[in-house]
Amino acid sequence: MRVFVAGASGAIATRLVPQLIERGHEVIGTFNSPGNDERLRALGAKPVALDLLDARAVRKAVLEAAPDAIVHQATALANLRFSRNFDRGFAATNRLRTEGTDALLAAAREAGVRRFAAQSFASYRYARVGGPVKTEDDPLDPTPAPAMRETDAAMRYLDQAVTDAGGIALRYGGFYGAPNDGLIKPVRKRQFPIVGDGAGVSSFIHLDDAAAATVLALEHDVAGIYNIVDDEPAPVREWLPVLANALGAKPPRHFPRWLARLFAGEAAVMMGTESRGASNAKAKRELGWELRYPSWRQGFAAAYASVVAPEGDESRVGARTSHSTT
Ligand SMILES: NC(=O)c1ccc[n+]([C@@H]2O[C@H](COP(=O)([O-])OP(=O)(O)OC[C@H]3O[C@@H](n4cnc5c(N)ncnc54)[C@H](OP(=O)(O)O)[C@@H]3O)[C@@H](O)[C@H]2O)c1
Repeated sequence: MRVFVAGASGAIATRLVPQLIERGHEVIGTFNSPGNDERLRALGAKPVALDLLDARAVRKAVLEAAPDAIVHQATALANLRFSRNFDRGFAATNRLRTEGTDALLAAAREAGVRRFAAQSFASYRYARVGGPVKTEDDPLDPTPAPAMRETDAAMRYLDQAVTDAGGIALRYGGFYGAPNDGLIKPVRKRQFPIVGDGAGVSSFIHLDDAAAATVLALEHDVAGIYNIVDDEPAPVREWLPVLANALGAKPPRHFPRWLARLFAGEAAVMMGTESRGASNAKAKRELGWELRYPSWRQGFAAAYASVVAPEGDESRVGARTSHSTT
């Protein structure tokens, strides 16, 4: 297949592009920041500069590429800092998930593209009722925290628009597996506490496994929503100490709910205490997907074994095995 990867220079797509090429596909990859064309060329893709918010440019790029498949992996999360105003940090990503998706879908229709897959998200989105692990058929949270309503709405929009068009919405778990993963700094600085009883469940996915599932989704004649997460959704109180240990950091702090609400807002309390995880049964069953890292337990250790804390980082003091919970 000729595959048009939008956002090919990002965290997931830089794993996806080589896997597509290895499977014999041809890749046209878009980038947005100057200089990323060389990176894409080195991965084996044909680089195309593209701002996904410029619908005319999207139309032109897709018609020129004439792909068999499009994968939308564009987000704007590279400089994201956690803040109580969740939606402000996600504003640009929300536009890529709404306007960007619309532009790509319109171009795909015009170019007669047969397959379309887009990046969605699984963790923290399912309704906070019933059991801890949810399937694609379970309802989404009808009352997300006020600070994350726009972000939630943008993900719902993407899921709906893509599946209405006969495409695939890939609800990934929290990505990890790169030296600049978003959780590394806050966990090292002990800025990511266990809130209350730490019962909020998260789903993770190693970037290599996420990319493998994406290739399979494109190669199978499927449509709809797929959770792309690992086998072990887990409460924060279980995974966070393991992550801290893998990073050679001190164990996480514990905050009561009221204190976390004061410093980090309601969204952080909700994610830390009430959120639900996701089941990968459908993706394994229908795509024949096998995970290289079935659990974050092996994945964190493998991903961070060689990630060394910078000089002066207080986490350098922590010995990696002194507080192992595995
Ligand atoms: N599920 C998750 O947990 C999840 C999801 C996404 C990201 N993240 C995390 O967020 C961090 C940053 O992610 P990232 O490296 O993927 O970076 P990113 O800044 O989110 O960029 C992703 C891709 O989108 C492209 N892009 C950005 N704005 C665009 C626009 N207006 N038009 C077209 N393309 C645009 C980027 O191009 P350029 O690079 O050329 O600017 C890049 O190819 C990583 O730590 C990652 O793990 C997590």
